Amino acid sequence: MSTTPLRLVPVTADNLDAACAISVRPDQQHLVSPVVKSLAEAYVHPDVAWPRLIVDGDEPVGFVMAFLDIAWNPAVDPADIRSGIWRLNISAAHQAKGYGRFAVRAVTDELRRRGTEHAYVTYDTGPGSPEPFYAGLGFRPTGELSGDQVVASAPLT
Ligand SMILES: CC(C)(COP(=O)(O)OP(=O)(O)OC[C@H]1O[C@@H](n2cnc3c(N)ncnc32)[C@H](O)[C@@H]1OP(=O)(O)O)[C@@H](O)C(=O)NCCC(=O)NCCS
Repeated sequence: MSTTPLRLVPVTADNLDAACAISVRPDQQHLVSPVVKSLAEAYVHPDVAWPRLIVDGDEPVGFVMAFLDIAWNPAVDPADIRSGIWRLNISAAHQAKGYGRFAVRAVTDELRRRGTEHAYVTYDTGPGSPEPFYAGLGFRPTGELSGDQVVASAPLT
């Protein structure tokens, strides 16, 4: 039995199927890639991807993937190195229970331990956007866009 009921765990051979079964609501699927795609990206970008399953007791409730120390726009500013939330998928059945907030705080704690001063996230706007969720956690738009997505950041100090 685990002594830490709610936690982030690495994705392994033992929980891969459970990770890939995490699915957001049908009306949210345009907002985030499926977990299987995130894991494929983690496979090809192992130096920057930090994928974790969110587990409560024995129940996988979501998936979060951080990006670590990415050169954001090296042609413009090679010193602009960023880390943050790359993906966040809370299972449809487990939304509005505080798991998303837990996952963002767990990632920002990890970034703080690594000496990072700001956490970044990008998200779609429009119906169902997670913008208010991230705003409640201290993320504010930077004024930049990444493709069609708004870039937001939160101070970690
Ligand atoms: C957005 C998402 C991660 C939120 O996770 P969650 O576990 O349901 O959120 P929580 O229960 O931790 O909510 C924390 C707070 O944010 C608020 N919140 C959550 N989603 C919200 C939304 N879409 N709009 C407004 N407020 C929202 C909650 O009401 C709660 O507020 P409170 O602190 O006043 O109680 C989840 O809904 C999800 O997976 N959405 C689909 C995919 C997505 O958009 N991912 C992010 C891509 S960057």
